[in-house]
Formats: sequence, C-alpha cells, structure tokens
Amino acid sequence: MSTRIAIMTDEVGWHTRQLQAALRERGVVGRCVDLEDCRIDTLASAHGLVIPGFGTELPDAAIVRGIAGGSFEQVTKRLGVLHALRELGVPVYNDARAIERSVDKAMTSLLLYAAGVPTPPTWAMESAAQAQRVVMRESAAGHALVLKPLFGSQGKGLQLIGCVDGVHRPLPELKGAYGSLAYLQRFLPPLTRPGFDWRVLVVGGRAVTAMKRVSEHWVHNVKQGAACEPAELSQPLAELAESAARTLAMDYAGIDILPASSMNDLQVLEVNGVAAWQGLQRVTPFNIARCIVDDLLERRLGLSRHGARRA
Ligand SMILES: Nc1ncnc2c1ncn2[C@@H]1O[C@H](COP(=O)(O)OP(=O)(O)O)[C@@H](O)[C@H]1O
Ligand SMILES: [Mg+2]
Repeated sequence: MSTRIAIMTDEVGWHTRQLQAALRERGVVGRCVDLEDCRIDTLASAHGLVIPGFGTELPDAAIVRGIAGGSFEQVTKRLGVLHALRELGVPVYNDARAIERSVDKAMTSLLLYAAGVPTPPTWAMESAAQAQRVVMRESAAGHALVLKPLFGSQGKGLQLIGCVDGVHRPLPELKGAYGSLAYLQRFLPPLTRPGFDWRVLVVGGRAVTAMKRVSEHWVHNVKQGAACEPAELSQPLAELAESAARTLAMDYAGIDILPASSMNDLQVLEVNGVAAWQGLQRVTPFNIARCIVDDLLERRLGLSRHGARRA
C-alpha cells in the first residue's frame, strides 16, 4: 500500500498543491486535513484518534502547514492531535513541541539566547509598569524597541516605541491586540537604504536557500510589500540559520536574520516553524516543496528514492 501523508492545513492553496505534487512524484499520497476536523474518539479506533480521510488508520506522517487560530481550548485540542500523532509513532514534520516553541516569540528568544545564538535583547512581561520602565531605560540609552504580538506573523501589529528618530514614544495600551503582554525586542536600525532582512530556509538541519526581503518600511515581510531578491547563502548566514533551527528542534524552518552593528554582525530575529515559501520560491533555482518532501521521506521515514523503506 502506498505511503499516505496528512498535510495539516486550514487553507488549501499554492503551498498544499506544491507539496501534493512533490509527494506524487515520489509515489506518495498527500491528503489535506484541517486540524479543526480531527478528533479524539476512544470508541472509533484502537488509537483513539480520527483523522478525516484516513478511516480508522493513521497517516504514515504529517506535514504541518497551518493551524487556524481559535479559542484556547480549540488550539489546545489541535496541538493535542499533533502531540498524539507523535506519541503514536507518527512522524510530525515540524513536531508540535517545536511549533509551540516557535509560535511563542518570547520562548524562541529565550531558547536562542540560552543556546548562545545571537539575537537582540528581548523582554516579555505582563506588568505594564515593568515594561514601561524597560522602555524608559532603553529610550534613555537611545534605543528603539519593537513591540510585537506574542503569536504574531506576517509583520502584523508591530510597533516601534522608545527612542524613535530622537523622539520618545511610550508603550501603548497592551490590552487587546497584545493580549496584555509586552513582548519587546531591541530595534536594529537598518544599515542600508532601503533596508532589508534575510530569510533563510533550513531543511533537515541544512540551510538550503536564502533571499533578501527589501523595503523602505522597517517591517520587511513579503505580506507587507517587501520585494524578494535572491541572496547569496554565505557561510555565516547558513551557520547562524542552522544553529537557530537546531536550537528549536525544527525539521524545516524559515529564519529571519538582520545585520546588527555591521554586515558581519548577524542576529536572529525570529524562527518560523510553519514557514511560507511562495516568495522564496520565486528567487530559488530548485523546487522547495520537493526539497522538503525528500527530507521528510528520506530522513524521517527512511524511504529511499525508489520507495523502498530502509531496513
Ligand atoms: N528587533 C528588530 N529590529 C529591526 N527590525 C525588526 C525587528 N523585529 C522585527 N523587525 C522587522 O519586522 C519584521 C517582522 O518581525 P518578526 O519578528 O519576524 O515577526 P513576524 O512573525 O510578524 O514576521 C522582520 O522581518 C523585520 O523586518
Ligand atoms: Mg518574521
């Protein structure tokens, strides 16, 4: 029977089609499954999980492409399904634990820092008064800070505070968009005009491709209008991205990197465990979905190119 992979996603589109095509080329079936529709039913099967499209069986592996937001309970269950798959021996490509740690920007910063991976100074706190003191102190030292939603993505909800162009900007209200939590990272001012950051894709522990995201605005996400340019994957860039992916135990990851004091002083801003690669594909000479699928099949499932499972 052919190998069957669940592509966990709340959105069927370009990425899932890319993955399905790459799987098909390897004789593997890729079926899109919304984690919202997965359930626990201890009467339905021996293992107690129901993954739509897989009957009473489990997929041979799961690729996590997207987890929709929801209530705390809903998200807990969705992540619980991924944890359960791992516990049942199903490889989950980016494991739930890695995804949890990278979705939480504060945890990512802490783990990077603890592992000695260069990353800007970072604070996360619930007390607005404490956060205000950090902003005052940093501002007095001439630094701006980036206030980010803890679970943010695509450059949404970022604000520059502290010393911005010589003017002090105070901490805004943390209720609402920031969930009453201050996640603050020291701002690294752009070294060039327009500014840029690097996005490096790591697959199976190796940095495989990189691009520059360039824009006049300091937020360089593709979704915020940044242009994607091919970038040389220099050794320092590759090594830094690989160490960040390793620190968060990622099968594949998109690493955001900025130059700090100079082009030789590289710092990791963020690690994306559910990384999109449509923009990166435009400036990458090989097929990224194929690279991801090959790594999953070969490294995690032990399937050789001819489809035979390694002994
Ligand atoms: N500390 C920082 N210094 C300078 N620019 C930053 C900093 N943090 C974020 N940015 C800019 O904002 C973008 C989005 O921030 P990021 O932390 O990657 O959040 P998101 O999950 O929204 O992508 C980055 O790619 C970078 O261009
Ligand atoms: Mg980012």
